[in-house]
Amino acid sequence: MRILVVGGGGREHALCWALSKTATLFCAPGNPGTRASATNLPLEVSDHQAIRDAMRAEHIDLAVIGPEIPLAAGIVDYLAAEGIPAFGPTAAAARIESSKAFAKSLMASAGVPTAASRTFTDQAEALAYIGTHAEPLVVKASGLAAGKGAVVCSTRDGACSAAVEMFAGKFGTAGREVVVEAFLEGEEVSIFAITDGEHVMMLPPSQDHKRLKDNDLGPNTGGMGAYSPVAFADDALLDTVESQVIGPTLAELANQGAPYRGVLYAGLMVSPTGQPWVVEFNCRFGDPEAQVVLPIVDEDLTEHLWRIASGERWSPARTRIQASGAAVTTVLAAAGYPENPEKGAAITIPTDQPEDTILFHAGTVLDDQDTLRVSGGRVLCATGIGPDVQTALEASRRLAAAVDFEGKVLRSDIGWREIARAGAS
Ligand code: AMP
Ligand code: GLY
Repeated sequence: MRILVVGGGGREHALCWALSKTATLFCAPGNPGTRASATNLPLEVSDHQAIRDAMRAEHIDLAVIGPEIPLAAGIVDYLAAEGIPAFGPTAAAARIESSKAFAKSLMASAGVPTAASRTFTDQAEALAYIGTHAEPLVVKASGLAAGKGAVVCSTRDGACSAAVEMFAGKFGTAGREVVVEAFLEGEEVSIFAITDGEHVMMLPPSQDHKRLKDNDLGPNTGGMGAYSPVAFADDALLDTVESQVIGPTLAELANQGAPYRGVLYAGLMVSPTGQPWVVEFNCRFGDPEAQVVLPIVDEDLTEHLWRIASGERWSPARTRIQASGAAVTTVLAAAGYPENPEKGAAITIPTDQPEDTILFHAGTVLDDQDTLRVSGGRVLCATGIGPDVQTALEASRRLAAAVDFEGKVLRSDIGWREIARAGAS
């Protein structure tokens, strides 16, 4: 099997690393890290035609789409019309991520537990509604905003300012529609379910760390680290997620004429009583969660992804993907991230990488002299693997410390909730 992974970040490096165990990999455009397990093809993810041409020229059987932007732009529809299997949802089904307004209305129709909300296209109506809403509350740009379009507001005044900024274009067209919703208490967990629209297999649960600084302080980012598995997301909780969230959502998408294939990412808030509430859906693997979930999967994903994308019969006997051990990833970000990341610093990577670690590349580039340099906000993901989260964290920290570049920013407390729980029990 020959597979093209579309994208060039840490998630796509993790996909290449995982799928190359059983397939020949290509990555478009990839990054200096994906070269270890794939052949990089210098293509834009938005150039669907060039991707089709390269797949034909290289006799590639399957495309696996990493990021949401090409999915929302219809890359899977385009390749399918050309007779090329691609793993990921159609543009219509990807609206579950690209329109929060659509996702909220879908969940209401399907009876999926989520925060009460209303959607507005008119600023005066939004402000009037906020004026009567209990505090705290959450204001969200409906469209794609690179994970930055949700503002948790402790006061109605703050929520009004956030809504005014969104209507004024802070997130471009993504803020033309604004969702106002109730604040949910609890702990977050990310669940990835691969699906053909009917059957489902869930990958091990993971937890992202969105804030820039230790102790969950500082601004929201694309994610500063993650760990998997998450002990409180036990079998009973996953059963509830399957029956109350994933199942009804897939059925309602099919009912509305947009059947879903690919990976459905449910971002959940689990209340203190153990009830999962949907915070958001994404139409792809999480980043940096993929960098911890994929390394602990024990079974061959290639076969599953191929069957789902090609429409071959897929009737898994289990609803869980087999996994063992634990992984923690520490994101190494550039100075100035997330507001204004500085690019260009030279990166040193140890030649004798610590045991039980994988260094996934995200924002790196090789210059003309073959020096590895910083080229994006999130630069590298230092993944550690071990029998439990504590051991995996130690491995991740060792690797994160051994890699160096000027201005390196990182958190040293990834997995702190899990470790506190393990210590308390
Ligand atoms: P989203 O872009 O919808 O994933 O939101 C980004 C982050 O904002 C989430 O990961 C949560 O930490 C927080 N958030 C979003 N919606 C809510 C909510 N209704 N209640 C509490 N926190 C929320
Ligand atoms: N880690 C959050 C996301 O991938 O959207």
